[in-house]
Amino acid sequence: MTTPPPEAPQAPPWRPSRPGRALVLGASGQIGRPLLARLVQAGWRVDALSRQPQPPLPGVHWLRGDLAGCRELPGEVDLLLSCGPLDAFAARFARGDVACRRVVAFGSTSVEAKRTSPDPDERALADRLRAAEASLFATAAGRGVAATILRPTLVYGAGRDATLTRIAALARRLRGFALPADATGRRQPVHVDDLADAAMACLDAPATHGRAYAVPGGEALPYREMVARTLAALPERPRLLLLPPALFGALLGPARLLGLASGFNDAALARMRQDLVFDPAPAQRDFGYAPRPFAPDAAMLTPPG
Ligand SMILES: NC(=O)c1ccc[n+]([C@@H]2O[C@H](COP(=O)([O-])OP(=O)(O)OC[C@H]3O[C@@H](n4cnc5c(N)ncnc54)[C@H](OP(=O)(O)O)[C@@H]3O)[C@@H](O)[C@H]2O)c1
Repeated sequence: MTTPPPEAPQAPPWRPSRPGRALVLGASGQIGRPLLARLVQAGWRVDALSRQPQPPLPGVHWLRGDLAGCRELPGEVDLLLSCGPLDAFAARFARGDVACRRVVAFGSTSVEAKRTSPDPDERALADRLRAAEASLFATAAGRGVAATILRPTLVYGAGRDATLTRIAALARRLRGFALPADATGRRQPVHVDDLADAAMACLDAPATHGRAYAVPGGEALPYREMVARTLAALPERPRLLLLPPALFGALLGPARLLGLASGFNDAALARMRQDLVFDPAPAQRDFGYAPRPFAPDAAMLTPPG
């Protein structure tokens, strides 16, 4: 009787041990950067992928290329970390040309939050994330690799996010920012450093193998309070205008035409009234996740350079 060959060589099981060789994908991003610093500090030898030339970073060997196409990825590492698009990572991981013993990958709470969105593009994103998570776990299980997925909520802290930093930039330009008065759905903004700490904390936590975790910020607060604290952190102190919802809705059309609300669709408007709150308890229990409350300063909301 013959047995079918395994899909890829089985790696020895991951055991918490001394740092070895790590490969970080999406390394130039707002989560990737602080993660690189922590890995180097902890003694890992780090390869990092970017499609753009990157300034040298002590302890980091930059590789240049796209996730799908790069041929220079090392054939074997101890640890594989993904801070870029999860679907592209899952597809690359499934190819099996980078052997590893441990994977920690960032996904998104959008996998839940956008599952029933009225916007078809948002539903498609949630479907892609779900398929990518399933593929990643299936590939990892087939190869005996310990995999963990971390799903952040709204990310901020490096002045590079598309929500709060964008709101801050617009508010500075206009000396104010308007919201519908019923923008009271709760949010849990999470700082990039807390996410980098979460990835590091997972490494030696066996309970995280084969599991996905929400990694929300340390405080759930109403959307309009989140924006109020954002504006209060800026030295210019732009004003927050809370408008009657009908008036806000009527002004949105002209604002879009002026380019002041591009990308802000009707689904996003409706979501401002909805709670998007995720339970940090499993992450607290399994790897001691302890994110900070939301207290931004101007540097966290200002693009670097
Ligand atoms: N931002 C949020 O609010 C948020 C919320 C929830 C979840 N997440 C998830 O958390 C992870 C990290 O987010 P982030 O905000 O740190 O992302 P980010 O700042 O946009 O960084 C992602 C990095 O991925 C790299 N990348 C993108 N496409 C690539 C490709 N095809 N091949 C190689 N590299 C590619 C880019 O690097 P180069 O341009 O240098 O190649 C980029 O720096 C992502 O999975 C994201 O979906 C983010």
